[in-house]
Amino acid sequence: MCGIIGYIGKQNAIPLLINGLKKLEYRGYDSAGIAFLHAKKLEIRRCAGKIQVLESSIKNENLNSLIGIAHTRWATHGRPSEENAHPHQVNGIVVVHNGIIENYLDLKNKLKKKGHVFSSDTDTEVICHLISSYAEKGLDIKNATRQALKHLNGAYSLGIIAEKEPDKLIAVKNDSPLIVGLGNSEFFIASDVPAFLSHTKDVIILDNGEMAVITKKGVSISDINDKPLKKKTTTINWNPEMAEKNGYNHFMLKEIYEQPRAITDTIRGRFSLDQGNVNLEEFSIKKSALKKFKKIFLVACGTSWHAALVGKYMIESLAKISAEADIASEFRYRDPVIPKDSLVIVITQSGETADTLAAQREAKKHGAKVLSICNVIGSSSTREADSVFYTHSGPEIGVASTKAFTTQLVALYIFSIALAKEKGAIDSRRSKKLLNDLLFLPEKVENTFLLNDSIIKIAKKYFQVKDFLYLGRNLNYPIALEGALKLKEISYIHAEGYPAGEMKHGPIALIDNDMPVLVLVAKGKVRNKLLSNIEEVKARGGEVISIVEKKRYKSLSRSPNTIYIPAINQYLSTVLFSIPLQLLAYHIAVLRECDIDQPRNLAKSVTVE
Ligand code: AGP
Repeated sequence: MCGIIGYIGKQNAIPLLINGLKKLEYRGYDSAGIAFLHAKKLEIRRCAGKIQVLESSIKNENLNSLIGIAHTRWATHGRPSEENAHPHQVNGIVVVHNGIIENYLDLKNKLKKKGHVFSSDTDTEVICHLISSYAEKGLDIKNATRQALKHLNGAYSLGIIAEKEPDKLIAVKNDSPLIVGLGNSEFFIASDVPAFLSHTKDVIILDNGEMAVITKKGVSISDINDKPLKKKTTTINWNPEMAEKNGYNHFMLKEIYEQPRAITDTIRGRFSLDQGNVNLEEFSIKKSALKKFKKIFLVACGTSWHAALVGKYMIESLAKISAEADIASEFRYRDPVIPKDSLVIVITQSGETADTLAAQREAKKHGAKVLSICNVIGSSSTREADSVFYTHSGPEIGVASTKAFTTQLVALYIFSIALAKEKGAIDSRRSKKLLNDLLFLPEKVENTFLLNDSIIKIAKKYFQVKDFLYLGRNLNYPIALEGALKLKEISYIHAEGYPAGEMKHGPIALIDNDMPVLVLVAKGKVRNKLLSNIEEVKARGGEVISIVEKKRYKSLSRSPNTIYIPAINQYLSTVLFSIPLQLLAYHIAVLRECDIDQPRNLAKSVTVE
């Protein structure tokens, strides 16, 4: 769960690598480092702390290099410190690594017995020692790396350079993402495209077990047995500006405000209102085959799991197919019963979450078809799935997911309509109406932004509390969970999401005037129940914040803590309820002076178990 980048070409590698690292900082930010060849001599700079610290430490040195690798770390083995920061080096062979070497202790002990001396607590250092031991036997860096790889178990993407072969950059990928960027006589490797997006949009996406040997002249790719491979070039249709803050104080805020655009891009070309048909043209699962699915599993982690829960409600309510939402880390180990006529929908922003990928593989093992709802083109989940529904939200840099979540909800809504139509659970008239509602969604999201000032007032009132309770029902119960997760992640306030009907089965005991209770009051069949829940909280001296789908309910109109959001159908209300919760978490975190885009202990893509 780190970010790696490498460069070889005609420009000074050092600023390119530092700027690239900044785009990867969302993947980990407890220490950073860079290695390059300066006047043919290997130089390494590392430090604990953020990339800024590394940048400041080298800014007064007049360094120049045409090749280098760099790393931003999220510690797994060994505390964040200079000695544990990457790159690691043994005898002029330097490695940056993202992933975990599961058998590193065993390897380390064997190497120690042979006289190798270790200078860090990391799993990565064993890779350097292994490569170096083969290099000592006379192998070049490519073949020494190939031999070393045979000893490694686990997940790794690697960037390697060697002092003795200053014109070669080696990249290896196994279960952690690695992309090669193809410029004009210059090449990049990185964990994610934004790292080099301002230099090239043409990429080769490496698959597991592949190695790239890159010189200034070009890229050659082979498997671990040195069999040459032909790989296709993919052009990424993201703009470099998409990965910048564009005047916003934080990526999270920018990404909240990007939601109308992200939703528009996700729905573009997806349906025709003439017949109320959804367009799933790029799906390899044929639309006509959708009706054969008897059971749907939705599997994901974190925020994406909250989208999965909403998806369950949408699918059962619209398509009348039994659906289960599972946390990927549970699904992969709980021996799930997955009948052959099941569809497993994995939901993942990054497409690289280790538990989600493992669950996806488990589903395939059972013979189920897999649909990936994913934001990152060419990520592992998309490559392994039978079909992909891309959420075109653009790069999401803030660790707290916002636009990726609401576009997942939109993707699930569209897919549920397609499923319902094919199953005959809804007719064309109904699907036209449901799809038509989508066209109004981006504008209604814009209208929800007008609530920002009221939300700031509420944030100012409550930013110092220790606990928060979020209540919702039905489709908006997962939105309560998501609101609580957003607050926890970025403001470090303890927050719990609960189905409102469960309140009296336990959490009601917590209520006092120190704990605000935020209630999502949607229209429809559970409205009155939610109003009763509000009364129950008030009767116990609790402070209520209500987010109410428009239409003024008498009993709420006098409360200073009430926010009205635009009305829309019950499925899409999940998107509109999400916006004030994102803004509330954001403003509370700002007032608490938290590090919003890089919350403590977190990383954007959890590529380790
Ligand atoms: C969201 O705010 C989180 N940072 C986190 O829960 C995230 O949603 C989770 O790690 C899953 O990531 P994915 O969607 O990339 O698989």
